[in-house]
Amino acid sequence: MHSILQRHKVPIMARSFSSIRPRPYSGKTYDQIKTLRNHVFPLYTHYYKEPFYPVEGEKEFIYDSQGKKYIDLIGGISCVNVGYSHPRLTRIYEEEAGRLMNISSHYIHQYQGNYAEKLCAELGNGLDTTFFFSSGSEANDFAVLLAKAYTKSNTVLALRNGYHGTAGHSYSLTNLLTWNSQLNRSVQLERLAWPNLYRSSHSTHEAMLKDAEEQLDSGSNGKVAGLWIEPIMGAGGIVPLPPHYIQGLHALVKRHGGLYISDEVQSGFCRVGRERWGFKWQQVKPDIVVMAKAIANGQPLSAVVTRKEIADSLDHPYFTTYAAGPLECRLAG
Ligand SMILES: Cc1ncc(COP(=O)(O)O)c(C=O)c1O
Repeated sequence: MHSILQRHKVPIMARSFSSIRPRPYSGKTYDQIKTLRNHVFPLYTHYYKEPFYPVEGEKEFIYDSQGKKYIDLIGGISCVNVGYSHPRLTRIYEEEAGRLMNISSHYIHQYQGNYAEKLCAELGNGLDTTFFFSSGSEANDFAVLLAKAYTKSNTVLALRNGYHGTAGHSYSLTNLLTWNSQLNRSVQLERLAWPNLYRSSHSTHEAMLKDAEEQLDSGSNGKVAGLWIEPIMGAGGIVPLPPHYIQGLHALVKRHGGLYISDEVQSGFCRVGRERWGFKWQQVKPDIVVMAKAIANGQPLSAVVTRKEIADSLDHPYFTTYAAGPLECRLAG
C-alpha cells in the first residue's frame, strides 16, 4: 500500500499512527451482539463460519474483540484505501465534529465545490459536472435517470455477472445470481456476455461483440440509454475486463446513441494501479463516471460525474439529505 501511496504522492504519516494497539476492549461479546440482532432483518450476510467480530483498525490491520490481529486484504469492501485510523482523516473528523455535524445539502459550503473541482480535474475527458450522493447504489440509480433523460430511451445495458447496487434502478442493473431477486427490474435490461479471463470461455471477444450487437438489434428499438461497465468486476469475482472487448462495446453503444457509464465504485481511486481509473486503463472515454467506497475512505459519499450537456438534461430539483456534507467532502478532498 505504501508504494502506491508514494507513487501518487499521498503523504504518508505512518509514525503518527498510535503504536499502542489494540486498545483494551470492554464492549459486548460476539454472543451478546448476536442476541441483540433479533430486530434486524436476517438479510445481512456474513462471510465466515466462525465468528469474526472486528472492533478496531490501524493502517492495514484489524483487531477482533479478543485482540487478535488480521491483515485486511480488501480494505472493507474496497473502501479503506489509506488504511484505518489515518491521522489526517482522524483530525478532520475531530475538527468537523466540533463544527457542523450535519448540514443539509440545500446549503452551500466550501468543501463540496472544492472537491468537485478537484475530482473533475482528476478525471479529465470533458467530465466537468458532479452530483454527490451517499452510496454507490444511489449514484447508479441517478445515473440511470440521467441516461434516460438524455437519450429518451428506457433500455439499459449491463454485463451478466455484474453488480451495480441495490437501490432503485441500480438494482435493475445488477445481474448476479446471489443478488438477483424477482423484484429488481424497473427498466428494460439487456444482459450482454462477459469474458472471464480466469475460466476458459466458449466464445471469442469477436463472437461476444457480434452477439451483443444482435441482442441490441432485436431487444431495443434501435436506441439505448446507456451501457454500465465495471472495469474490474468486483462482486462478480474481481475479474478484469479486457480493454479490447470493452472498447468494442463502447463503440456499439455509441452507434446506438447511448451513453457509456464506467462504474468505478470498486475500481476507482487507484485500485487499478498506475492508470488510477478503470476507464483510463481500458482506454475508453466515458460519458458518466460513478464512484463511491474509497472516495472518502469508506465514509458515506458517492458521486456521479458527467459532462454539463448531459447534466442539463435533468431540469427538476433533485436532492438527498445527507450527501456531500462538509465532513465527507473534506475526507474525500
Ligand atoms: C461496482 C459497484 N457498483 C455499485 C455498488 C453499490 O454501492 P453501495 O453498496 O455503496 O450502494 C457496489 C457495491 O459493492 C459495487 O461494487
